[in-house]
Amino acid sequence: MQNKSTVSWKCPSNIALVKYWGKYGRQLPSNPSISFTLNNAHTITKISYEYFDDPKKSIELDFRFEGKPNKSFSDKLSNFLNSIKEDYSFLKHLDLQIESENSFPHSSGIASSASSMAALAMCLLDIESQITGSNNIDITKASCLARLASGSACRSVYPQIAVWGETTDIEGSSNLHAIPFQKHIHPLFLSFHDDILIVSKNEKSVSSRAGHALMKNNPYSKARFEQAFLHLKQITAAMNIGDIDTFGHIVEKEALTLHALMMSSDPPYILIEPNTLKMINAIQCFRTEEKIPVYFTLDAGPNIHLLYPDDVSNQVSQLKDYLRGLCVDDTIINDQVGQGPVKISN
Ligand code: PMV
Repeated sequence: MQNKSTVSWKCPSNIALVKYWGKYGRQLPSNPSISFTLNNAHTITKISYEYFDDPKKSIELDFRFEGKPNKSFSDKLSNFLNSIKEDYSFLKHLDLQIESENSFPHSSGIASSASSMAALAMCLLDIESQITGSNNIDITKASCLARLASGSACRSVYPQIAVWGETTDIEGSSNLHAIPFQKHIHPLFLSFHDDILIVSKNEKSVSSRAGHALMKNNPYSKARFEQAFLHLKQITAAMNIGDIDTFGHIVEKEALTLHALMMSSDPPYILIEPNTLKMINAIQCFRTEEKIPVYFTLDAGPNIHLLYPDDVSNQVSQLKDYLRGLCVDDTIINDQVGQGPVKISN
C-alpha cells in the first residue's frame, strides 16, 4: 500500500458517429452511441495524492489548469468528487493536487470534457489501485466513473472504437459503461482520419448539459431514440464488412439530426454557423465529383470533423486547402483514430 505518490495519464477525446443526445437518471443515455477514439486531441492529468486513514477526513483539492489555478473548473471538480464520494469511498481520505493540460488550445471550440474526465477517471482508479495494493485498473470501472463525470467520456478509455448504451443487438453493451468494439470492425476504419476544422473558437451558447435536458420535451425525441438504435445496428454491420458508403451516409445523417434536434427543442437554438454549411456543401460536392470517400460529422458545436480513410489522404489534401480558408485563423487540428489512454511514468 502506498499512501503518498503521483499518478499521471494521457487520455484522448473521441468523436461520436452515432450520437448520444438525451439522458435520464444518473448520466444514463437514452440511446446507444458509437465513437472513434482520437489520438492528438488529448488531456494530460497529473495527480499528487496523500492518503489519511482518518474516518472524519473530507476531500481536499488543489486544482491547476495549464499551470494556473482555475476556480470555475476547480469548483466543478470539487462538486463532482463530493457527489461520488459515497460510491468511491477511498476519495474521502485524500488530499489531491491535480494538474491538467490539453493538447489543443482551451479556446479552440473543442470540448475537452471527454478527454479530461477520462484522464481524471484513470488517475483516480490508479490511486485506488495503489492504496489498496491491487496495482490493477479495471477499465470497465474507469468507464463507469468517467461516465458519471461526463457521459461521452466513458467511451474515451478504450482504443479505436467504443460503444456505449444498452442494445439487444450488441452483446455486453451497457448503459453504465462503454465497451471496446474494435474487434468487430473492418481494418479500413481503424486508419481513419478526423481533421477538426475550426469554424469558431467561441464557447457555445447552449451547453451540452442544457441540450440533453431539452430532449425531455422535444416532440421528436421518441422517433430520434428509435432511429439511433437502428443507426447503431446499421453502422456496426457496415463497419464490420468495410461498407464505407453506408457508414458515411449514417454518420452525416447523425450529425444533421443532432443539430435538427437542437433546432426543434423548446427553446430552439442553432449552434452551426454559415461556414459550417459552406464546408458541408464543399465536402459533399468534392465527394460526388472526385468519387472519394470523405465525410463530415459535427459535435454539439459549429466545427466540422472531416472523416476519411488513410489511403485517400493525398487526394483529400486538395479539399482541405480549400476548407482551411473557411476556418478561423486557418485552424485545422489533424487527428486520427488512436490507441486510448496511456499512463505517463513519473
Ligand atoms: O458527454 P456530454 O454530456 O458532453 O455530451 C456529448 C454529446 C455529443 O458530443 C453531442 C454526442 C456524443 O455522443 O459524444
